Formats: sequence, C-alpha cells, structure tokens
Amino acid sequence: MPESFSKQSPVLEAFIMSILKVARLGHPVLRKVTANLAQRELQSAAMQKFIDDMIETMKEYDGVGLAADQVHESKQLAVLEVANNPRYPNKPDVPLTVLVNPKVTPLSDVLEEDWEGCLSIPDLRGKVPRYTSVRVQAWDRNGQELDYVATGFHARVIQHEFDHLNGKLYVDRMRDLTTLSFLQEFARYWLPARDE
Ligand code: NI
Repeated sequence: MPESFSKQSPVLEAFIMSILKVARLGHPVLRKVTANLAQRELQSAAMQKFIDDMIETMKEYDGVGLAADQVHESKQLAVLEVANNPRYPNKPDVPLTVLVNPKVTPLSDVLEEDWEGCLSIPDLRGKVPRYTSVRVQAWDRNGQELDYVATGFHARVIQHEFDHLNGKLYVDRMRDLTTLSFLQEFARYWLPARDE
C-alpha cells in the first residue's frame, strides 16, 4: 500500500480520495508479472480505498482503464470504464468494472487492428492487433465471481489491461512500429483515416 495510508487518520482515510502517481515506460514495475490477490486482502479497507483511488486516477487522466502496477502496486487488479471519453471519442460505453485476478481467453482467432494509447506511455498512439472477442473470468471488488464475454473495443481494453498485469505493454503487441505516433502527428496524419 502507498505510504500515505499510514500517515492519515483512519477517519480521514475513508473520505479522502487520492490521485495516484502513474509509472511510465521504463519503470521496472510495469514489466513484472503481478501477484494474485487473496479474498482477505481484497476485502481490507486499505485495498478498497486503493481501488477507489485507482478509479479516481483513471478518471483524472481520462483513461479507459488502469492496472494496479501502473500505480506501483504489483497486484492482479485493474479498473476500466468508457463513457464519453475525450481521449477515445466515438467508442461504445463500457460500465465501470473492477477486475481482480482476471483470466482472459480469446473466443476467436480474429484479430483487429485499432489505435491504442496508455497512461504509462504518454502522448503516443499506435495500432495494435487484438482479439475481437474474449471471455473474462475474474472477481469483482467484493470478491464475487464474474464470467462474461466482451467484444470490440471493450475486448480491446480488457486485453490491454490484462497485458499490464502480465508485464506487457501495447508497444510489445504492435506488428511493427510504423504507426507509432505522437498525439499531434496522430491527429494530423492518421485521424482522418480513423474510420477507413
Ligand atoms: Ni495502459
């Protein structure tokens, strides 16, 4: 847990949400395989607050997902939500979801390329192939079983976050780096062809 937990009084802890520092490409924490969470650890007040802070951090930076290792906690935990996101306009909504110890299984061999970015690789975008349909098995934040199928952009976000938990970043998944672009160049040279 971040140090700040121990510095605040328990009463304040329950009310103060924190924006967490995001690890950037090159930080070794992003390359470690994260550790499983036990039910007891998940149910702890500190972990529940950490989940709230992850959600707050994701929203603060207009992310559509955030993995715990991106905020320096090497645990099998990710949050995701897509709702009118300025970084990813015109994408279908995905409800706020907390995935604990997720297992992700492709349901088809079909790969689709689309643009991805990452809060740990600021200002860049690249085209990444992802499975169009996946089965997700995980716990929610209360330790209840989740088992569902995600498709399209939802499936893409889940695969991106699942990769984080296994020490992989989207640039590892690109077929080559020819589309890797800064946001300004992405907007200038690639965006008009987005819906080609
Ligand atoms: Ni990312």
